[in-house]
Amino acid sequence: MAKTPRIAVVGSANTDLITFASAFPRPGETIFGTGFDLGFGGKGANQAVAARLCGGEVLMVAKVGNDLFGEATVRNFASFGIDSTHVRIIEGVPTGVAPIFVEPGGQNRIIVVKGANDQLTPADVDAAAADLRQVDTIILQFEIPLETVYHTVRFARANKIRCIVNPAPAVPASLADLAGADYFIPNETEAELITGRPVSTLEQAAACATDLLKRGFQRVVITLGERGSLIAGPSGHVHVPPFPVTSVDTTGAGDAFIGSLAVFLAEGMPEKGALERANLYAALSTTRVGTQKSFATRADFEAEWTRRGRGPG
Ligand code: RIB
Repeated sequence: MAKTPRIAVVGSANTDLITFASAFPRPGETIFGTGFDLGFGGKGANQAVAARLCGGEVLMVAKVGNDLFGEATVRNFASFGIDSTHVRIIEGVPTGVAPIFVEPGGQNRIIVVKGANDQLTPADVDAAAADLRQVDTIILQFEIPLETVYHTVRFARANKIRCIVNPAPAVPASLADLAGADYFIPNETEAELITGRPVSTLEQAAACATDLLKRGFQRVVITLGERGSLIAGPSGHVHVPPFPVTSVDTTGAGDAFIGSLAVFLAEGMPEKGALERANLYAALSTTRVGTQKSFATRADFEAEWTRRGRGPG
């Protein structure tokens, strides 16, 4: 029986306003959408929910505004059994929101208005330090101030806690301040923006990951959407193939990948097996609409894993 992983997410919480449309409007044009979905999101919160649904004990460190969305976000964490002791409701700024536009076939475009997420400071991480020292893994993304991300990477390293950095959305960042992370996990677009190298083919993804290793990272995973993922580390790189699914909404798939991977690794699974499982967990999330509401429970995931002919471990 694997031990229960203890995962902390220092990151964002947003409210997602997801609009489905058959095309995007041109400047000055008004068109009719085909559907709408309001849901809980934010890359940090999504990763926390994925980790929780996969069986982790999860601690969230975040900030939300003193508005309807903020209170609802805290209740949402409680509904999943996520520890929100360090989710603070603050005055004067709104909770983060994300208008999201989804095309037929599931591809999305997202605008994030950071709101309270932008007020999460290194001091908030220090205030949570006693609880953070108890976890196996800390996960970070880029929807909070970069200073807070750098500070938390240093904290994790000083305390020998596994640290996963998901540089999403990609913004110019100091790689030297991130290199203490154990895993650096961009998607293709983020990897391109960070390195300035194209990531259209597997060969290019491998070259890009190798470039990031040279800049100081221990392990780099590039998520490749419907082509799976690629990991590079001290012993070379490996492509981890995808699982075929029919996608309707890819929003949050990267978050599903990271939250689930954190749990699989913390359970002690071999790296390749953990990545294969995270590939399937992320793929399954694209078969349903929404972000957190599209994530599978561990029981449903295991049933699908077995149905696809995969064994334990
Ligand atoms: O990764 C998907 C997430 O990105 C959405 O939930 C949205 O809130 C943005 O943070």
